[in-house]
Amino acid sequence: MSYNLLKGKKGIIFGALDEKSIAWKVALRAKEEGAEFVLTNAPIAMRMGEINKLAEHCNAQIIPADATSVEDLENLFTKAQEILGGKIDFILHSIGSSPNIRKGKEYGDLNYDWFQKTLDISALSFHKVMHVAEKQDAMNEWGSIVALSYIAAQRVFPDYTDMSHAKAVLESIARNYGYRFGKMKKVRVNTISQSPTKTTAGTGVGGFDAFYDYADKMSPLGNASAEDCANYTITLFSDLTRMVTMQNLMHDGGFSYMGISEDIVEMISK
Ligand code: NAI
Repeated sequence: MSYNLLKGKKGIIFGALDEKSIAWKVALRAKEEGAEFVLTNAPIAMRMGEINKLAEHCNAQIIPADATSVEDLENLFTKAQEILGGKIDFILHSIGSSPNIRKGKEYGDLNYDWFQKTLDISALSFHKVMHVAEKQDAMNEWGSIVALSYIAAQRVFPDYTDMSHAKAVLESIARNYGYRFGKMKKVRVNTISQSPTKTTAGTGVGGFDAFYDYADKMSPLGNASAEDCANYTITLFSDLTRMVTMQNLMHDGGFSYMGISEDIVEMISK
C-alpha cells in the first residue's frame, strides 16, 4: 500500500545487489511512496547486471561508485544532483563486506589487512558518504540518512568476527555525524539494527542458518524480513520522524530485549 510518504523527495540508494538485498526492497518501496532516486553500487558488484532490472522498474539511473573511494563518491553526488535536479533528501547506506568472513578466517586468526578493508567498506564508507554530502552541501534541510547495522555491535556472535567491530564503528559514526549534520542542516542520521536476513551478505556469515533460526525462535514477533526493514526505512525517510536522530534503532521482532524464550527452552529440553 502506498501513502505517498516520500512524494517529491530525492535520494541516493547504496547497496542493491540482487532482489534479496535490503536496499533492493527499499528502492521498490521508495518508488511506491513517490520518491525519485539514483541507485549506486561498487563497479565490481554490477557485473551481474541484476541492478539494471531494478533501475528499469524504478525509472532510476545507476551511478557506479566504490563507497571506499572519496573520488567516486564526489562524482556520485555531483551526478546525482544533476540527474535529480536538486539537493538530496534521503540516503540509504546498505553496504557491508568482510574479506575475513568471506575467506573463512576465525576471530583468533584474522588477516589485519583484510580487517582494515572490512572497516573501510562497512563503516568508514558511511563517514565518507556524509563527508562528501557535507562538502558539496548536497543535503536538503530535514533530510534523513540511514545505515544498516546488526546487534553484533553490542553482543558477541563469534562467527561475525571483524564485522562486529565494523558495526560498532558504524553506529558510532551515526551518532557523531548525526550531531554535526543536525546542527548544520537539521539532517538526521540513524542506524537500523536489523534481524538476520537471507541475503548475499547475510548468508555469507558462518553458521547463518543456526543464528537465523535462533533469533526467530527468541523473538516474540519472529525475525523481521527485508520487506519489513524497507517499510521501517521509509518511515525514517519520511517527514513523520523528523526529530529522530543519532539513534541505533532495533528492528528485530523484539530479539534485543529477550533473555530466553519458551521456544528455545522447549528446543533445548528435547
Ligand atoms: P547484500 O549482499 O545484498 O548487500 C551488501 C551490499 O554491499 C552489496 O550490494 C555490495 O555490492 C555492497 N558493497 C560491498 N562493497 C562495496 C563497496 N566497496 N562500495 C559500494 N558497495 C559495496 O546484503 P544485505 O543483507 O542487503 O546487506 C545490506 C546491509 O544490511 C549491510 O550493511 C549488512 O551488514 C546489513 N545487515 C544485514 C543483515 C543480514 O542478516 N543480511 C542483518 C543486519 C544488517
